[in-house]
Amino acid sequence: MVQRTGYEVNMAVKIITPAYLMKKVKVKMSKSEPTTEMEKTEELTSRRSFFSVLWIGLGIVALMEFIGMVSAFLMPRKKRGSAGNLGTLIDAGSVDKFPKESVTAFIRGKFYLCRLEDGGFLAVSRKCTHLGCTVPWSEKEKKFVCPCHASAFDIRGAVISPPAPRALDVYHLYIENNIVKVDTGKRVKRSGFRTDQVVYAKKA
Ligand code: FES
Repeated sequence: MVQRTGYEVNMAVKIITPAYLMKKVKVKMSKSEPTTEMEKTEELTSRRSFFSVLWIGLGIVALMEFIGMVSAFLMPRKKRGSAGNLGTLIDAGSVDKFPKESVTAFIRGKFYLCRLEDGGFLAVSRKCTHLGCTVPWSEKEKKFVCPCHASAFDIRGAVISPPAPRALDVYHLYIENNIVKVDTGKRVKRSGFRTDQVVYAKKA
């Protein structure tokens, strides 16, 4: 182990004490303090330009953040996939898979694919328009009956019995290459059933 002399210890303490450091800083500051009017003006100018640059920098950062927020808000949301996994577009299957006057539940999409007597399709929401209960299809009664307050709807989603105030909502659907596709991202409210809500497969 190296033995230090009293002088060396004293010097080491001097170096690390705050008072010593302050003294050093003061000496440095006093050395760099402007003495003439010209030096004072120069220092004032350099301080001003430093703060100007600082403010401009902060302004740019704030502007970039604002632009980022606005563009994130305005950008259209991407549809997630179309294979029927996570996306809003669901391939329900080929037209021939669904017999006329049938109702097929799509649990994940929260809708029923109803094929009407004339072969047309409707994608009907399973949410009751009264207070939002899930409405099951009764194959026996050939109607949707809400378990909460007994509202009933026909295969087209039109109200048969209140208290439901309007028909079940429908989702946009289209038929492409004989495949029925339902866009569960587009639910449409309707007061009642209209024939133009029904989608038909193009005749070959
Ligand atoms: Fe369906 Fe009330 S929630 S009838």
